[in-house]
Amino acid sequence: MSAPHDTLVRNIFDRIAWRYDLLNRIISFRLDSLWRRKAIGALGIADRPALVLDMGTGTGALALDACKVLAPGARVVGLDFSRAMLNRARERTARAGHQDRAAFVLAHALAAPVRNGIFDAVMSAFVLRNVGNLESFFRESYRVLKPGGRIVCLDMFPPPQGTFSRLYWLYFGKLMPRIGSLVSGDPAAYRYLSDSVRAFVSPGTVADTITSAGFVETRTVRYMRGAVCLHLAAKPR
Ligand SMILES: C[S@@+](CC[C@H](N)C(=O)[O-])C[C@H]1O[C@@H](n2cnc3c(N)ncnc32)[C@H](O)[C@@H]1O
Repeated sequence: MSAPHDTLVRNIFDRIAWRYDLLNRIISFRLDSLWRRKAIGALGIADRPALVLDMGTGTGALALDACKVLAPGARVVGLDFSRAMLNRARERTARAGHQDRAAFVLAHALAAPVRNGIFDAVMSAFVLRNVGNLESFFRESYRVLKPGGRIVCLDMFPPPQGTFSRLYWLYFGKLMPRIGSLVSGDPAAYRYLSDSVRAFVSPGTVADTITSAGFVETRTVRYMRGAVCLHLAAKPR
């Protein structure tokens, strides 16, 4: 994606980092942590000392959840281009006593500063809408995975038209940005969140993009009538 887009996204997350976790819990009614746990479970790697990359780790929520459930010897690398979000990730991880299991790297997700084929799994939560170039995101994820490595991506999608969609947009298009603005003092950030979901592609397009990057066994798991989806796939052996 373009440099102006990256700057816009990075600035938003730098500004809201201090309120990010609280607001996530409020606006998702705490469902965000349930979906993250499902994403980690779906990877099916809890029984081995896996090396896992968390793309767009933010305040480290997904990385930390992984630290709690992965096998002894497992390690998580959290990558993000927002320094303020990463600072919070480091604080949270140290507070939870998992600093030996997780490392955090300031970098762009489309140019991860890591060698080819070293990770057992790549995961991301609520990042796809922000990276702009999905093709590059999945190509980069493919590059860093070992043969047989797995990917899981959790994100929000515009729900299919219907009664649920009308109620959803009443909440997510009108009420949620006001709550976000009140709690963070940053109306633009939570307007961006709503707009980024409205403008996002369908789960089917994400699945096709994953497969086009070379992955196999691509699967989509839908929650909340498709407003939240997990995409799962594997790099061929
Ligand atoms: C909505 S937050 C999600 C954070 C975390 N994964 C979670 O589950 O709460 C999106 C994160 O992705 C990061 N991000 C977006 N685009 C990125 C890119 N191109 N490279 C690195 N990080 C990116 C943002 O800085 C932000 O911290």
